[in-house]
Formats: sequence, structure tokens, C-alpha cells
Amino acid sequence: MPAHDCLVVGNGGREHALAWRLARSPGVQTVWVAPGNGGTATEPRVRNLPLSDVRALAEFAAHKQIGLTVVGPEAPLAAGIVDIFRARGLPIFGPTQAAARLESSKAFSKDFMVRHGIPTALSRTFDNADEAHAFVDDRGAPIVIKADGLASGKGVVVAETVAEAHDAINRMMVESRYGDAGAAILIEEKLEGEEASFIVMVDGRNVLALATSQDHKRLLDGDRGPNTGGMGAYSPAPVVTPEVHRRILREVIAPTVAGMAAEGTPYTGFLYAGLMIDAEGRPKTIEFNCRLGDPETQPILARLKTDLLTLLRAGVDGRLDKVEAEWDRRHALCVVMAAEGYPDAPKAGARIEGLPAVTRYGEDAVDSMVFHAGTRRDDGVVTVTGGRVLGVTGLGDSLKMAHATAYEAVRRIQFDGMQFRSDIGHQALPASVLAASTQAASTQASSTQAASTLATGGPR
Ligand code: AMP
Ligand code: GLY
Repeated sequence: MPAHDCLVVGNGGREHALAWRLARSPGVQTVWVAPGNGGTATEPRVRNLPLSDVRALAEFAAHKQIGLTVVGPEAPLAAGIVDIFRARGLPIFGPTQAAARLESSKAFSKDFMVRHGIPTALSRTFDNADEAHAFVDDRGAPIVIKADGLASGKGVVVAETVAEAHDAINRMMVESRYGDAGAAILIEEKLEGEEASFIVMVDGRNVLALATSQDHKRLLDGDRGPNTGGMGAYSPAPVVTPEVHRRILREVIAPTVAGMAAEGTPYTGFLYAGLMIDAEGRPKTIEFNCRLGDPETQPILARLKTDLLTLLRAGVDGRLDKVEAEWDRRHALCVVMAAEGYPDAPKAGARIEGLPAVTRYGEDAVDSMVFHAGTRRDDGVVTVTGGRVLGVTGLGDSLKMAHATAYEAVRRIQFDGMQFRSDIGHQALPASVLAASTQAASTQASSTQAASTLATGGPR
């Protein structure tokens, strides 16, 4: 088969990882990333494309005869990019707008799970703030408050007190902090257990499970602080034992894929189940995402040995039952370095120092990779554009070694105001490893502060 160009839609670390992996495929000539970032700008065989309008992207794909398009974020999926590409006969891997409601509307998703007997937290939907407040008074805390629509992972409050729950309802429904996304909210029981991300590829009927992973949603060490898009992840997730894996496929994934098909909106694309696994190994679905996770994709793709293009093509052609994914037996761990002020008010502009030379990416001897997210590159200078900035990913024979490799790479990188957790992988790592890591991270943070004080002539 002749080599084709591919298109990756998005600009985060997930998209850098997708582009990096696709660019290594013998079936790929150039990978276009729209709009891309400072990392994809210099990745070999990858080019940035300054487009984000979905119709303009379809025009580009038709003109360039793009062999395959893969979509990173939920927004273009919820806007119907897959429907638009398909209507023009352009190969794309992702869910239709109707299927993407599994993520874009939490109320739809919850009703769907209830209709199909998929285990999930008990929940009620409200479009009236007074009724929501009354329900919280009746149920008490802990309790979980969620905006119905898309709020970039920030529309969920796990309230430990009734006061926190009332505040969250006011922010979402009365002050409209998340715009229309908070016009309706869900209030649900708090699930206990350990979280895992279970991501599969679906072609409408067949399922191919990717390697398991675990995300760290809170900003600060020890799972404290506000929820973020994700501060780090590792793969595999030990909580997903072979038995738990079977249960997830049988109790969550299979009924979801069958249910979507039965309702006339067959699911195609990556399907991400965010799960809570209780002490008995029973999975409950916290949410569905209609896409790959970010940062989970970085450690997952760092471990993928099978050609990614082959898998994506099988996904588009309905042949996922004919392919298998082979995984590096090593562990991978990704540490997100975020901008000052993230997640509430991230600051742009800091210059990033100490990045590794790009040309070494993907060589087999290299066991760490720096995936870019909120960065740009101008004349060789890389600066922060906001949010999550880098996803520093290490591989190792054990999780402990992957942790050491990733943090060693983190230690070489500096930028003003950088924030990162020192305890990624803590659920599965010994306490001694974490204590050393916390110590090193605080030394790095204070030396950055000293350096920036010198550079600016005073504290900022
Ligand atoms: P979501 O955007 O729905 O994935 O929620 C973000 C995070 O909030 C999840 O990753 C969980 O850590 C937490 N969360 C959401 N719903 C619940 C729940 N019912 N019980 C406990 N934690 C939850
Ligand atoms: N890491 C969580 C997400 O991608 O939604």
C-alpha cells in the first residue's frame, strides 16, 4: 500500500503522542497536526497545520487525499467532525455527533447506562437550583455535583461537606461559571475505591482493548487540590487484574457497544470508561469519554509495539476483530508539567529550558520522551502557551524504574512558575520512592524560583 498522509486533530500532549507514533509507521508519509504545538512543530515527518474549523479541515483532507484522520479532543467530535468527514467519504476514526453524546451530555450518558444495566453511581438530574439544594439537604455529604455539559474536566465537585455542595450548585446554576454546561446538573452518590482508565477502540461492533492506565486528576500531591484535566498517568494499572479486566469488558464495554448499536447510533472510535474499582474488584462507571485520555495516551502509546496506523485502519474498516495490539512489557509513567496558575488562570509566556533534543525521540535506546501540550516554538525558542505544558514520559522494567526515568527527565526542565506532582504512581509505589521524589521536586522548585528571581531582578 502506498504511503499516505495522516491528519491528527488537536494540540495537546495526546495529539503529540499520536503524531509521534503515526510518524513512525511505514505507511505514513507526513502527519499533519491541526493546530499542533511547539513539540509537533519539529517532530520528524510531522507538520503543523494552523486550522481548527471542522469544515476547513475536511476541505484540507479532501484536497490532500489524507488517508486517515484521527481526532484527539471532544469538542470537534461533539461538533460533528466525523459526520462531516464521512459525508464526503473521508476516512476518519472517531464517534459521530450522536455517539459522542456519551461524553458531551452526562445526563444522556447516565440515562443510557441505566437503560442498559451498566454499573454506575446512583444519580439524579436537576435543571432547577432550588430543587438541587433541597436534594443535597435531604441526602447530606459526601456527595458529587456535576455540570451536565462539557467543562474541560472542571465541572465536577466531589463535595465532602453540604456547604461545598451548595457552593458548587450556585457556581454552576446561579452564577453560570461554566456557561450552558451548568444549566443542568447531576447529583450523585460518591463511589469508593480506586480509579482506572479503560480505553478501547470500537468499530461499531468489535472491540480492541488498549493497555490499562491510571490518571491523577487532582493538582497537588496526595490527591489534594482542585480537579484538573490530569496531572500524570501510568500504564499498566495494577488495580485492573486479569479478572477485573474481564469484568470491565463484560459488564461495561460490551453492553455499551451493543446498546449504542441497538439505539441506532453505533459507536466508532476510542471509547474511554473512567471507572471506580471497589475492594471486591467490582467496576462502576464514573463517566464515558468519546476519545483517548490525556495524559493517559502518552504512557499507553509509549508502550504500543503494534503499528498504530494498522490499528486505526482496522477501526475505520470494521476489522478490529482481525488485529491484535502488542504492548511493551515495561511500565510507562507520564508526569505533567503545568503552567503557573493552572487550572484556574494559567499564565502564558514563560521560556522553557532544558528540553531534550527532538531527534532522539523514538529511538529504541531512549527510555524517556517529552510530549508537548501548551507550548509554542518561535525561532527555536519554546515558550508556555498555558494549561498543561509538557508530558514527560519514562519507561522502565518496573513502575519504580519508570518513575525514576520520568522524574530524571523532569529535573532537567525548567520554566517560571512550573507546577508538577512528585507522586505520580503513588497508589502503586513504595513510600520510600515517594519521599525521595517529593524532596527532589521541592529542591527543583526552589532553585527555579531563585533562578527567576535572578533573571527578573526581584520576586514576581
Ligand atoms: P468526571 O469528569 O465525571 O470523570 O469526574 C472527574 C473526577 O471526579 C473523577 O475522575 C473522579 O475522581 C471524581 N468523581 C466523579 N464522580 C464521582 C463519584 N460518583 N464518586 C466519586 N468520585 C467521583
Ligand atoms: N485524563 C482524563 C481525560 O482525558 O479526560
